[in-house]
Amino acid sequence: SSKPVLFSGMQPSSDSLQLGNYIGALSQWTKMQEDYDAFFCVVNLHAITVPQDPAELVARTRRTAAQYIAAGIDPEKSTLFVQSQVPAHAELAWVLNTVTGFGEASRMTQFKDKSQKQGADAASVGLFTYPILMAADILLYRAESVPVGEDQRQHVELTRDLATRFNSRFGDTFVVPEAQIPKGTAKIYDLQEPTAKMSKSAETEAGLIKVLDPANVTKKKIMRAVTDADGEIRFDREAKPGVSNLLTIYSVLSGRTIDSVVDEYAGRGYGDLKKGLVEVVEESLAPVRNRTEELLADPAELDRLLAKAADRANEVANRTLTAVYDAIGL
Ligand code: ADP
Ligand code: NA
Repeated sequence: SSKPVLFSGMQPSSDSLQLGNYIGALSQWTKMQEDYDAFFCVVNLHAITVPQDPAELVARTRRTAAQYIAAGIDPEKSTLFVQSQVPAHAELAWVLNTVTGFGEASRMTQFKDKSQKQGADAASVGLFTYPILMAADILLYRAESVPVGEDQRQHVELTRDLATRFNSRFGDTFVVPEAQIPKGTAKIYDLQEPTAKMSKSAETEAGLIKVLDPANVTKKKIMRAVTDADGEIRFDREAKPGVSNLLTIYSVLSGRTIDSVVDEYAGRGYGDLKKGLVEVVEESLAPVRNRTEELLADPAELDRLLAKAADRANEVANRTLTAVYDAIGL
């Protein structure tokens, strides 16, 4: 294929994606798969950098893959695969470990955040070297474009540094990738704490719209979303973060401008806006939820799709790994 290569990954770290993942990542990727030779990876090797229940990890890996497909990632157009089914990820990560400075790795701020949450002694070395595995993920496919959230920018910078260093030490081997941080993409906030980003890893689920939650659960969460006391429906991120977040979600999912939504609800109560939003969210998420359930009902077929994608991923990844081994004398 002559299309530029794109790589992106998602951790199988929860039973369901949240609305922010759907808006900020999945629906972007669904559009991008037309213009790129896209590799989408369920990064289960990354997931085990923090403790996981084995049976749950198996289930979550399938559920994550099913949600990608249900949201529109087409296994005929994109290579949607599971990281552990491509051994070259772990092999290249080892090689990259040897060209990464200890100080350089120590400057990764995500490790500082995540290890603090776990307690310094509980954090694994795998959590520390996580960004190096991520560099391997990206470099194996010679990806030019890496669509990620702002929080991953530093890891893509590290990937660029490692690729450049390796190339100058051992000869031109890697494509130096670029982070593609979607500019126009709306950021979705927690319904209960509308100044914090909606996140799978939020401490409580009350403010989280989960893609696979039943309609009545999502409805309850939206109806209980935090707003404010002035009672006026208008967009003001600073003064009215709760209402602004509801308007943003409404606008993104309905494809309407925020102004047109504000106009429709002008002079009405927050309850009306929330009821409208319940419908808009259900209309967007119901097909994804239903399709995910269908896919999960036939795990053999899902596994077959993933195995086929892993074959293609292995082919591409092994070509790069062979070049790397040749370059360094292995
Ligand atoms: P989470 O915080 O739920 O674990 P991740 O950090 O795994 O999410 O993010 C995966 C992708 O989803 C990233 O590309 C990120 O930009 C997007 N994303 C996550 N949360 C949001 C959000 N609240 N609003 C918009 N995009 C989001
Ligand atoms: Na995360």
